[in-house]
Amino acid sequence: MPASLRDAVVVPPGYAFQVLYRWGDPTGIAGNLPAFKPDASNTAAEQAAQAGMHHDGMSFFPLGTDGRRALLVLNHEYTDEHLLHPDGPRPPTLEKVRKSQHAMGVSVIEIERAAAGWKQVLPSAYARRIHGNTPIRLAGPAAGSARMKTAADPTGRQVLGTLANCAMGVTPWGTYLTCEENFHGYFGADKGVANAPDVVSQRYGTVPGGQWVDWYRLDERFDVSKHPNEPNRFGWVVEIDPMDPTSTPVKRTALGRKSAESATCTLTRDGRVAVYMGDDARFECIYKFVSRDPVRPGGTSANRDLLDHGTLYTARFDANGQGAWLALTHGQHGLTPDNGFADPAEVVMHARLAASTVGATPMDRPEWIAVHPQTGELFVTLTNNSQRGAPGRPAPDAANPRANNLGGHILRWTEAGGDAGADSFRWSHFVLAGDPGLPDADTRYTGAQADPFGSPDGLYFDPAGLLWIQTDMSGPAIGKGAYANLGNNALLCADLATGQIKRFLTGPAGCEITGCVVTPDRSTLFVNIQHPGETRDPGGGTPGSAWPDGGTPGAVRPRSATVVVRRTDGGAVGT
Ligand code: FEO
Ligand code: CA
Ligand code: CA
Repeated sequence: MPASLRDAVVVPPGYAFQVLYRWGDPTGIAGNLPAFKPDASNTAAEQAAQAGMHHDGMSFFPLGTDGRRALLVLNHEYTDEHLLHPDGPRPPTLEKVRKSQHAMGVSVIEIERAAAGWKQVLPSAYARRIHGNTPIRLAGPAAGSARMKTAADPTGRQVLGTLANCAMGVTPWGTYLTCEENFHGYFGADKGVANAPDVVSQRYGTVPGGQWVDWYRLDERFDVSKHPNEPNRFGWVVEIDPMDPTSTPVKRTALGRKSAESATCTLTRDGRVAVYMGDDARFECIYKFVSRDPVRPGGTSANRDLLDHGTLYTARFDANGQGAWLALTHGQHGLTPDNGFADPAEVVMHARLAASTVGATPMDRPEWIAVHPQTGELFVTLTNNSQRGAPGRPAPDAANPRANNLGGHILRWTEAGGDAGADSFRWSHFVLAGDPGLPDADTRYTGAQADPFGSPDGLYFDPAGLLWIQTDMSGPAIGKGAYANLGNNALLCADLATGQIKRFLTGPAGCEITGCVVTPDRSTLFVNIQHPGETRDPGGGTPGSAWPDGGTPGAVRPRSATVVVRRTDGGAVGT
């Protein structure tokens, strides 16, 4: 498909799409099916039974074996406060704070295949919203530690809520992993009320004045001057069993605390689970967790604590194309009390500082990691980094080779011996993205035929090994400067066998494309359209989109939504 600046989803000839689950649509909880009110007057309680905002990572869990019923599990990353409330964020009220908390987290919805595509099952016994106030258990090395304890939870083992849910993973035993990315934006305090922020809160951004929203004024646990340990309970990977709607989600602290983005699972040669993770902030690092024990047959109940014991590693990319996984093990490689790591809990809780201590490579915002279903080769998106090479900031290096990296890049690596449990790897670049038509773009596309793109973010291998790339050029930058010829954000499909990269779907104005999954029979692709109309104008601005409901941009509320794409002849998508 050509690049597009239309306020529409556009798919190739021979394909059709439908809109499935928009912000505010009922999730399907029995006896609680509140309809969306276009003026945003749904209450906080109603929002807790409706689709959240800003759909992101997503996966598909078949029910039964006939391919006709499934659960779709998806993240709601953040909120647009101007769209969420009838009168916007001001004046702040506790009801608005609660609605905002309820608009993040995770949806579990049931879907079934019908003649005209897929439709939501309403109500469904599986339907569930997990949000910013849902009780969640803390497990692993940091659970119960002194820095996890708060006035409301003297055990340090129970937390209310998951926030800022971005990319995801699926475990070999069939649970869903949701990643808490920009959690720091919800914590704050009045500037000057607390002691000077320490090195940890500065690195994580949980400092007075650093908040994106002023929850702390109305919901005291988000006030870092009064409850300094509360932010320690966010920034984790959270495990959810979608098949059991009564199950308590669990934050798996062994996987490290960061702006968690992706938790991509595969098996080591000896049958343990390896979880690959990005940390999406400028100059942060890539991680891998390898479990101590092998995955056992018997599904979820047989692997209940598997993610609580193992080794967390971080990646160093060397100039000769080699790389090393450096273990973040307490007492080793400088991770000692003398260097600020009192115990194993502090190593995982302060994973960013631990990564720096052992010499991990600071990357250009690592987002999603995808593992090839047949070869085990790994790919990671480095979405962009305008600060690379800026005065006082890290210079370009072998793995992050461009200063002011606006296009972003995709890096690939193979673990030594093809074993996800290895402690070394070989890496190279797959794409240095951006517009090759611009002077000084310094782009590199592997194949002879490649449609250019900018700021790769979502990344997903379908069951046949086609690589689906989702882009996230920021809303205000779309169609301008380095992105002038790249159109709106898009979904592209790469064939590693030929090196071809084709633009497959283009999104509406201001949106990000993210969260993509193909059914096992390859007949259907689900993809999320996040924040159509985004302006990032601090005053709210005028939403630049009327998608998906139509009307006049600015007069209607655009809504994030899941889109279902199929070939009209029923064939495999992307072929
Ligand atoms: Fe939520 Fe880093 O994208
Ligand atoms: Ca992302
Ligand atoms: Ca993003």
